[in-house]
Amino acid sequence: MPTIHIPVLLKETIEVLLADGGKTYIDCTVGTGGHSLELLSQTPQDVIVIGIDKDEQSLEVAKKRLKTFGERVKLVRGGYEEIDELIKPLKPGPVSGILFDLGMSSFHLDESDRGFSFREDGPLDMRFDRLQDFTAEELIDTFSQEALLDIFKKFGEEKWSRRLSRVIVEQRKRKPFKTTVDISDFIRRNIPRRAAHKTLARIFQAIRIMVNNELENLKTGLLKAFNLLEIEGRIAVLTYHSLEDRITKNLFRTLKKAGLLVAINPRCARPSKAERMKNRRSRSARLRVIKKLGEITGEITLEGMGDLEAEEKSGEND
Ligand SMILES: C[S@@+](CC[C@H](N)C(=O)[O-])C[C@H]1O[C@@H](n2cnc3c(N)ncnc32)[C@H](O)[C@@H]1O
Repeated sequence: MPTIHIPVLLKETIEVLLADGGKTYIDCTVGTGGHSLELLSQTPQDVIVIGIDKDEQSLEVAKKRLKTFGERVKLVRGGYEEIDELIKPLKPGPVSGILFDLGMSSFHLDESDRGFSFREDGPLDMRFDRLQDFTAEELIDTFSQEALLDIFKKFGEEKWSRRLSRVIVEQRKRKPFKTTVDISDFIRRNIPRRAAHKTLARIFQAIRIMVNNELENLKTGLLKAFNLLEIEGRIAVLTYHSLEDRITKNLFRTLKKAGLLVAINPRCARPSKAERMKNRRSRSARLRVIKKLGEITGEITLEGMGDLEAEEKSGEND
């Protein structure tokens, strides 16, 4: 029986997404269907939900869970960075709300053969989209020391990045890394024991972000979603680490300055203590919600969004 992911900030997210009513919603990261199930349960028969995901295994689970809603659910395999192309054949009416629940799900962590977890033995894979060729194994096997250093630093914010990138490149000449245990045991042997857990989490996060091009896709996906949304429509984004949160915050800030949106929860919602205790994955979650006021007419610069070094210098981090 596959793991069913526990949706984070479920009640709060759906409530705020539905606040102004509407007929068509898009769940850009439908996963195993938790948020969509709630959305469909809380809306009348004439409301439809388009659920997008890159992962065919999660979509299979979502399909079964949402079956009772029949024609009200349309599931599409693909990346939200192509949201415009993906929904075109469905010819939806005006889109009233769009949800992004970022990153991986518990389903991914628990399926050891997907290679997302450093606690489980599996192939070095980490692809959300298994039609994609590029895997974690290829990254670790072929990227230069400088490139690995850059990824570990930028996407993992890991202080052992320099040492780890150097020893990984030395080791792979002797024996290539094939499994999650190969790399996690090796990392453990090369850093102080007390740092191991956090370092492994950060390095695995960094590799996953790079394998799936997560930050670039998020920038593209958010902008395309904004363009698709009807005026007065809402976007809700659940983020789980500072990199994706910063990208979301910066894009929304830019559009707000241009008078194109209003932030519904400017200080962003966090899970209650009770939710954090019940669901460990929710601990780092933040919910950002906006309402669209106008269309983008000129160029919106994507460069600089999520530019960590520049932001750290200007002290803009929340
Ligand atoms: C946190 S889970 C979503 C869980 C879902 N809200 C639920 O309640 O079951 C994130 C999902 O986003 C998917 N995903 C990641 N990047 C994606 C992308 N660029 N386009 C579409 N789906 C993506 C993953 O495969 C994963 O299933």
